[in-house]
Amino acid sequence: MAGDDKFASLIGSQRPQATNIVIFGANGDLTKRKLLPALAHMHRWNLLGHDCRIIGVVRQKWTHAYWVSYVHDELLKFFPEAVLNPASWQHIAEKLELVSGDLGEAETYQAIADKLHAHDGRKNALFYLAIPPAWYETVAQHLHTAGLNDESEGFRRVVIEKPFGMDLHSAQGLNRSIQSCFDESQIYRIDHYLGKEAVQNLMVFRFGNSVLEPLWNRNYIDHVQISVSESLGVGYRAGYYETSGALRDMIQSHLMQVMALVAMEPPVSLAADDVRDEKLKVLRSVRRFQAGALQHRAVRAQYAAGEVEGEVEGEPVAAYREEPGIAPESTTETFAAVKFYIDNWRWQGVPFLLRTGKRLPHRVSEICIRFREPPQKLFKLSEENVRNNELIFRLQPDEGMQLTMTAKQPGLSMHLRGVKLDASYGMAGSGMPEAYETLLHDVMLGEAGLFSRADEVEECWNIVMPILDAWKEQKDIATYAAGSMPGCDADVPGMDELLAGCQGGWRDLSRH
Ligand SMILES: NC(=O)c1ccc[n+]([C@@H]2O[C@H](COP(=O)([O-])OP(=O)(O)OC[C@H]3O[C@@H](n4cnc5c(N)ncnc54)[C@H](OP(=O)(O)O)[C@@H]3O)[C@@H](O)[C@H]2O)c1
Repeated sequence: MAGDDKFASLIGSQRPQATNIVIFGANGDLTKRKLLPALAHMHRWNLLGHDCRIIGVVRQKWTHAYWVSYVHDELLKFFPEAVLNPASWQHIAEKLELVSGDLGEAETYQAIADKLHAHDGRKNALFYLAIPPAWYETVAQHLHTAGLNDESEGFRRVVIEKPFGMDLHSAQGLNRSIQSCFDESQIYRIDHYLGKEAVQNLMVFRFGNSVLEPLWNRNYIDHVQISVSESLGVGYRAGYYETSGALRDMIQSHLMQVMALVAMEPPVSLAADDVRDEKLKVLRSVRRFQAGALQHRAVRAQYAAGEVEGEVEGEPVAAYREEPGIAPESTTETFAAVKFYIDNWRWQGVPFLLRTGKRLPHRVSEICIRFREPPQKLFKLSEENVRNNELIFRLQPDEGMQLTMTAKQPGLSMHLRGVKLDASYGMAGSGMPEAYETLLHDVMLGEAGLFSRADEVEECWNIVMPILDAWKEQKDIATYAAGSMPGCDADVPGMDELLAGCQGGWRDLSRH
């Protein structure tokens, strides 16, 4: 298959309708690192029709020419192919439009409305809120007041970034407020983990094959570990992270969504609400936490100074409390691990262990389904080589799947060894769509299956609130040296206890 055809088959044959892509926060970090490259990539594969326009909204009084040169320079950094070919760049540049105005001023929205009306044909519009969360409600209300939610001349969809609320109360308030301006069917809450190939493949793997279904339950699965390990520190996100921490930032959103996909029943169809109904049922079945009884269920820690792979060798990186913008006595967790139980027929008694952290030894994200040991130990002599079978969905790096099996070592004696059946997608760098590209494409098509519905978001908050409340009261926090892994080479109280009742230890994320 030629490269272009191969990609077209990957991203699908459906072409989105011409859309005005309005980006609030057009000069922000998310726009330059993710949205512009994703749009340029879509353009390259002819997924942004001729009539698509990218309308950046900035508060600075930029000229159109300055906006075009800004996009050029940012693409040069983050997706150079888009601008190195003059013809390709010319096409992208022709799509760029600019509105200069403050998010809090009605004139900004009138200027956007004028741009849409000046456009021939359908007035489809996607409003991407790549702005600080404090602005979500204000922007939604202004869009509503300016009539920009009205779908009589084309679809109007609003894309909201995470974090969606900081607790249950604020998430409920935000939902109410945005739903008073847009219908739920117009609201797309981004969880970019759901756009990852391996996460989507999880559904295909489960429901497109029949071999797994008989095994996918408490009779064969010992436990599930979902891990997102980052080697970077808090970096420039200190202000946000201090008020968030690992539980809010990762577990309440991405990891619980992934858990719901692993655990859900087959949906009636792939229609967005059928899938979301099944995920919601899982979330509603999650055993509740009691604020006073978190022992053996939730662990938190914060990174101290240490050495991390990828940083200058031998040079220690700073402790979280010494990072710029972080309070010297901060108790914000940079690592969190939580043990969930899903109290339904399929999963009763099967632990779901979710862990995530910053300044860990490796940048790895994966889902590990660990199956039970064989019921009889026939191969006693080489037992050390016999491990539980594991089915791994790697989200990063090298998206793909792996099944670990036990096999006989070739030779005359009965020695066993672990073998890996590896189905790496092997396409990184060759055009596999990035999560943001998949998600933008879906918004333009009106497919909401990879976006979180209001009730799912609130249920996730509802589940973690007792942990957040309990941690708020704690005056101290355990630490781990940057570059070490709690529960593996870093002794963090509670990590061993989380594994109680699980076969095998914490998965070693360096074993790829
Ligand atoms: N960056 C990421 O990788 C990432 C990942 C996940 C989620 N998110 C979410 O995405 C959103 C944007 O994040 P970000 O990292 O891109 O933040 P950022 O770099 O701080 O960008 C925020 C943008 O909003 C604009 N803005 C703020 N107040 C404004 C106002 N009154 N009028 C007009 N524009 C205004 C800023 O313009 P000025 O430059 O003029 O201030 C800037 O363009 C946040 O909700 C964040 O949580 C980001």
